[in-house]
Amino acid sequence: MKTLLVANWKMNPSTFKEAKALLDATKKVGDKAKQVSIVLAPPSIYLRQLRLLYKGKRIAFCAQNARGENGGALTGEISMAQARDAKAVFVLIGPAERRAMGETNDDTKKKVAAALALNMTPILCIGETERTNSGAHYAHVAEQLIIGLSAVPKGMLKKVLVAYEPVWAIGATSAMSPRDMHEMAIFIRKTVVGVHGEVGMQMRILYGGSIDDTNAADMCKEGDVEGLLVGRASADPRKVTQLINVLQNA
Ligand code: PGA
Repeated sequence: MKTLLVANWKMNPSTFKEAKALLDATKKVGDKAKQVSIVLAPPSIYLRQLRLLYKGKRIAFCAQNARGENGGALTGEISMAQARDAKAVFVLIGPAERRAMGETNDDTKKKVAAALALNMTPILCIGETERTNSGAHYAHVAEQLIIGLSAVPKGMLKKVLVAYEPVWAIGATSAMSPRDMHEMAIFIRKTVVGVHGEVGMQMRILYGGSIDDTNAADMCKEGDVEGLLVGRASADPRKVTQLINVLQNA
């Protein structure tokens, strides 16, 4: 099965010229990596132009954030419809950095429903900020998952992707172990099955947090995930080339 790589550039790079170079580097290696499906999430200000420049079929585009409302007095925000119009077919919902800025589970619920209504693929991002021996992270993740998916219309759950990104492993020096990810993937599916029934077993799960070419293959092999959500290593032409090559040969 193909590995899904969601390349979240976050607020990088600083110029459109560099963004074009990064797209070129990703395209170059991506064209040869038939085992890897690439989803690119550039800053929204670059999205439409990059999509227009890109002539291939192997990269799909993703908005880093969008709101469910159709329009309104919301300075600085973009709507789901605007993201769709700019040719994003995926959208990140509730990534850790946006939650840290105040995004709530209720916000993610509305955004997931709005994305599905426009036939976009929502990537619901979940993950605890810290881990202690109390096991409280399970309750935290379950809440994010249950509320975030609570407005998904019947039959549409298969269209949603869940990205588990433990906040403590984002921008860190090492990723979570594949074994722990495997355990979390089982918990995620069990939780979804508990609310939505057996279809939850097919929940597509990604891992995010300090992935690069050194740990990507093991995470895909042993972490029980369909793919990876990658920040830093996706926003550097050399690193993204190494990463995609590793995934292709894994
Ligand atoms: P990172 O970001 O790859 O830079 O750690 C991952 C994420 O935000 O999930």
